[in-house]
Amino acid sequence: MQNDIQEILISQEEIKEKVAELGQHLSKEYEGRNPLVICILKGAFIFMADLVKEITVPIELDFMAVSSYGTSTKSSGEVKIIKDLDSSIEGRDILIVEDIIDSGLTLSYLVDVLQRRNVKSVKLVTLFDKPSGRTVNLEADLAGFILPDAFVVGYGLDYAEKYRNLPYIGVLKPEVYSS
Ligand code: PRP
Ligand code: MN
Ligand code: MG
Repeated sequence: MQNDIQEILISQEEIKEKVAELGQHLSKEYEGRNPLVICILKGAFIFMADLVKEITVPIELDFMAVSSYGTSTKSSGEVKIIKDLDSSIEGRDILIVEDIIDSGLTLSYLVDVLQRRNVKSVKLVTLFDKPSGRTVNLEADLAGFILPDAFVVGYGLDYAEKYRNLPYIGVLKPEVYSS
């Protein structure tokens, strides 16, 4: 275990099982359709890569980069689009893939932006959900794990751009971000 990590909350194995379940669920849900699966960079990159391998219906992918946290452990509340989608999504079934929903600010902003582009449907899948952090009314259509109110890192989630590569979800030692 990495030195800055206090405790492993969700193991690599547990994540793997859950991602497979979510993939099976989505494959049924999108049977006969051709959804555009959108990864919200950077946090969702690992989940996206693992999830799409578990989806058995034909899909297309795109990537969008947004950021609201910067180097803080709290959302700034201001969502910036750093990279937009490559092509038009008019008339498409959209599946947004996110690593975590905390305050809900990032996704409520994004869902709004995407819905204005005359899509057929928008659904949200998040691997992690922290309902205790919510400041806006937003729920995922599908969520993997419910997380307690701790600052977690790993499996795509960062603190100041670090720890994204950890294969598990870990709780960061408080001294790492309070110093
Ligand atoms: C994190 C995370 C989600 C968002 C969730 O992204 O990946 O996208 O915050 O928080 P919220 O529900 O309070 O909006 P971040 O802005 O840190 O960018 P990153 O994905 O590049 O790390
Ligand atoms: Mn993110
Ligand atoms: Mg981040």
